Amino acid sequence: MGKLTKFIAILALPLLVNCKYIGSYKKDSVKYDTCDLSQSLLNEIHSYEETANTIINTIVNGKYKGGTYKELAKFVDKFGARLSGTQNLENSIDYMLELMRANNLDNVHGEEVYIPHWIRNEEHAELLEPRSAKLPVLGLGSSVSTPAEGIEAEAIVVTSFDQLKLENVSQAVKGKIVVYNEEWTGYGGTVQYRSRGASEASKLGAVASLVKSVTPFSMSTLHTGEQDYEDGVVPIPTASITKEDANMLQRMQDRGDTIKLKLVLNYTQYPDSKSRNSVGEIIGSSLPEKVVLVSGHIDSWDVGVGAMDDGGGAFISWYSLAILKALGLRAKRTLRAVLWTAEEPGLVGWAGYNATHFHELDNFTFVMESDEGTFTPLGIEYAAGVKGGCIIKEILKFLAPINASQAQYSTGGVGSDISAWTQSLIPGGSLLNANEKYFWFHHSPADTMDVLDPDDLDKATAVWAVVSYIIADLSEEFPRERDQINIEALNKLQTDPQVKLVHNKQ
Ligand SMILES: *[C@@H]1O[C@H](CO)[C@@H](O)[C@H](O)[C@H]1NC(C)=O
Ligand SMILES: *[C@@H]1O[C@H](CO)[C@@H](O)[C@H](O)[C@H]1NC(C)=O
Ligand SMILES: *[C@@H]1O[C@H](CO)[C@@H](O)[C@H](O)[C@H]1NC(C)=O
Ligand SMILES: *[C@@H]1O[C@H](CO)[C@@H](O)[C@H](O)[C@H]1NC(C)=O
Ligand SMILES: *[C@@H]1O[C@H](CO)[C@@H](O)[C@H](O)[C@H]1NC(C)=O
Ligand SMILES: [Zn+2]
Repeated sequence: MGKLTKFIAILALPLLVNCKYIGSYKKDSVKYDTCDLSQSLLNEIHSYEETANTIINTIVNGKYKGGTYKELAKFVDKFGARLSGTQNLENSIDYMLELMRANNLDNVHGEEVYIPHWIRNEEHAELLEPRSAKLPVLGLGSSVSTPAEGIEAEAIVVTSFDQLKLENVSQAVKGKIVVYNEEWTGYGGTVQYRSRGASEASKLGAVASLVKSVTPFSMSTLHTGEQDYEDGVVPIPTASITKEDANMLQRMQDRGDTIKLKLVLNYTQYPDSKSRNSVGEIIGSSLPEKVVLVSGHIDSWDVGVGAMDDGGGAFISWYSLAILKALGLRAKRTLRAVLWTAEEPGLVGWAGYNATHFHELDNFTFVMESDEGTFTPLGIEYAAGVKGGCIIKEILKFLAPINASQAQYSTGGVGSDISAWTQSLIPGGSLLNANEKYFWFHHSPADTMDVLDPDDLDKATAVWAVVSYIIADLSEEFPRERDQINIEALNKLQTDPQVKLVHNKQ
């Protein structure tokens, strides 16, 4: 959660819920987030109460109880990891298309796209000095290999790019292995060391780079992930090491020890191979061209089994449509489940889909993706304007029985694959969930079914089904306007509680 969003969340709660909590605020002094939907729209939303309860109950207490977990477990136990470019990923896609057909979803098909195919052959790392030890190591996606005999070199540990660029450090890097011992400051900031670390080190003449696994917590866990060589840099081999080992190497350096490492890293980058985004629909009854899209990505890293990232998101998307279909619920607009391929190497499946569907995006009413965990659901994080937010809030009141009624405004986009769409063009939502531990498991061997909970997955499927169905069925089109909260006024409010918060229509 960004600083601002956190601030908005903290701020909004007492202000919105009940005026008596406002205390010394004048009742009308804060306009932020007061909803004034028309009575007819409110009435229409409220008319879904029985349907929403039916959906929630059949999923959480009824016929489908435990179903999302059971189906996902069957899937990950059958296929395991689903790395981009592998036949195994394609087999898992065939399986999902088959399931969607078995559910009698409409228009079930795969849409072709070419995706990266990089695989890990062999990798080991050794500390040679100041003492001898094996260091667990896990290569980063798209890394080149070391020569067959490996690389032996001195290591230099840095805690940041700024430190790397200090004159005395940058001059010492040539011919060495750069070890990033960055501090965890949240994923967005910390992941830079994984994605750009090799390029930055290579520019200064390093022969390889290692990065402390990108995670806030470790039990000697290794975390992989994609990295990108900047155009024009000499590609150098790059891998992650454990948080514990990065800290140890730092201590050794701080004591003045010379650190010597040996790396043998062997990967293969094959030409791009053919894959598919998997699509299944419930075609709309009266506005079939209009689309509400629910999604998650089906590919995973090659360690762990991608149960959390993003089996959970893919499965709540597939299963909510399967259940709506089984309940005989057909919305006015088309509900479309998309299981993205090759998210991990850089939203590659989405990019292909965006290119072929760009002409159709005007008719995308609302897009959803769950790719930040399916832990205990809290509600929806949304990218939409004031009125859209109010509609989501009103719908989420139906999720009160499962404590998932929070609507959290995102100042940017939401989701991973759908982030470019939701940053600018299309209103959308992602699953707000108690995912504080998400990055403990992310891209690591620990991403298994044990991370997930059957009841939480049921609730997540229920949130997904209720929100997507009602938005797809409302007679009024979900508003596209993306009003911006007046951030300046919001910042002022920190010091001046009397300041009036306004929405700037753009
Ligand atoms: C990587 O390993 C493969 C066998 O797994 C071998 O054929 C190849 O030569 C190795 N490449 C390098 C650069 O060591
Ligand atoms: C580089 O200089 C800084 C002070 O400017 C010093 O703290 C640091 O230890 C030096 N690093 C190396 C590798 O010499
Ligand atoms: C999506 O596709 C359109 C049309 O090809 C293209 O102009 C746009 O740049 C794409 N968006 C992204 C973020 O790649
Ligand atoms: C969008 O939907 C409208 C009908 O609602 C249809 O006339 C139009 O052709 C669609 N546009 C695209 C680009 O698919
Ligand atoms: C909702 O939260 C309340 C209070 O924390 C708790 O007692 C209740 O069991 C929760 N309900 C569900 C369905 O999780
Ligand atoms: Zn993911």
